[in-house]
Amino acid sequence: MSQIAVIGTGYVGLVTGACFSDLGNNVCCVDISRERIEQLNRGNMPIFEPGLEEIVERSHRAGRLTFTTNYEEALKDVEFVFIAVGTPSGDDGEADMRYVRSAVEKIAEVIDHSIIIVDKSTVPVGTGDWIESMLSSHQNGRSFDCKVVSNPEFLREGSAINDFMRPDRIVLGSKHKDASEKVAELYNPLKSTVLITDIRSAEMIKYASNAFLATKISFINEIANICDSVGANVIDVAKGMGLDTRIGPKFLNAGIGWGGSCFPKDVKALAHIASKHGTHPQLLQAVMDINGAQRTIAVEKIAEMLEGLEDRHIGVLGLAFKPNTDDMRESPAVEIIQQLIDRGAKVRAYDPEAMNQARAVIPDEVVLCTDAYLVAEDADALLLATEWNEFTQLDFRKIHSLMRGDFLLDGRNLWDGEHLKSLGFRYAGIGLGNL
Ligand SMILES: NC(=O)c1ccc[n+]([C@@H]2O[C@H](COP(=O)([O-])OP(=O)(O)OC[C@H]3O[C@@H](n4cnc5c(N)ncnc54)[C@H](O)[C@@H]3O)[C@@H](O)[C@H]2O)c1
Repeated sequence: MSQIAVIGTGYVGLVTGACFSDLGNNVCCVDISRERIEQLNRGNMPIFEPGLEEIVERSHRAGRLTFTTNYEEALKDVEFVFIAVGTPSGDDGEADMRYVRSAVEKIAEVIDHSIIIVDKSTVPVGTGDWIESMLSSHQNGRSFDCKVVSNPEFLREGSAINDFMRPDRIVLGSKHKDASEKVAELYNPLKSTVLITDIRSAEMIKYASNAFLATKISFINEIANICDSVGANVIDVAKGMGLDTRIGPKFLNAGIGWGGSCFPKDVKALAHIASKHGTHPQLLQAVMDINGAQRTIAVEKIAEMLEGLEDRHIGVLGLAFKPNTDDMRESPAVEIIQQLIDRGAKVRAYDPEAMNQARAVIPDEVVLCTDAYLVAEDADALLLATEWNEFTQLDFRKIHSLMRGDFLLDGRNLWDGEHLKSLGFRYAGIGLGNL
């Protein structure tokens, strides 16, 4: 059993704290948001993540998981301090490091014994070295060792608990092999593959992994657009490609593009790192451009089918950037809705979990509805923007009777187009070659 502090109680910090406490460790999570900590202490989850509430509740009740805004309390007698604060996009796509900097400054203020700092935030290469030198120069008469280990996080929102407990790999990078090995022991119960590297390579592995996954999606979206022009079906094309074990089937789903809290900012940040060091990131630039264009392609498909967008009623099913999360950060639905409104359309929308978060980022004139059928009422077209399970088995006869038009744009290639056409809809997906 180890004593652990986790800084930041967002998707990564709260999942990390909850899972390590579930594995029997004593964990104290610290956040600067008083509201968030009060909420957690009352037993309410600040984020939606399947399975998280049960684990937090169990460990909190057993006294192994506590929450505070006080760094001194959180860091008292701990061996490991995990950093899991946000690193959003700053100017020119560079990672905004203000939260990491302030967390490290707070550690420097209160720490009075040796610790291992484990960085889970996605940070520019070289940050771990900076943290270590910053802390060793802030001893102020105290004598402590701060060894930094980079431990990039690969969890996916929506399956974060499972990803934490059954990771494909655990990457640990440090100048201090003993520190990496100690962190590896924390993960022993998971029986996963541990890769120990130098600290800069570990930091780079995170960016390179996300950039590669984003590239795979942008690649298949480019293929989808070609499929639309030549009358091929991208679902079959992706299946045929994915059966090749050198390619693999994952992340080959064509659609309206990637979003979320990680891919957009991490691809941008990596491109920025490359440019800063004199390398021209041509592929990364194309990956981002293709992704941006997918939103416009969806809007154009609707405009073409409805012969314009002025005063057309469009229903949007799904707002979160992907299913099983309420995260709206960089969700493709936001940009698409904005384009529809700019071109004179009236928009109604529904998401099973992200309605509160959505309200803050979509235009005021969008009417938020409490279910898919209310979205369909009087709609000329429906766009599926997020492939939530509940949208797979809708009562499409009812939807047909509620709509005033008949066009469905399946932005995630989720539905059975042939069946929908047999019910009287006009149907299109992305790259299905049928427009
Ligand atoms: N969300 C994901 O799916 C995911 C996956 C892998 C890696 N990451 C990376 O993990 C990091 C955290 O991401 P997230 O999505 O959990 O962020 P988040 O925005 O959900 O949460 C960050 C939390 O940190 C808190 N915070 C900010 N400054 C603080 C400080 N000085 N002291 C204490 N708390 C502070 C905020 O109040 C917030 O609660 C990012 O670098 C991100 O790129 C995220």
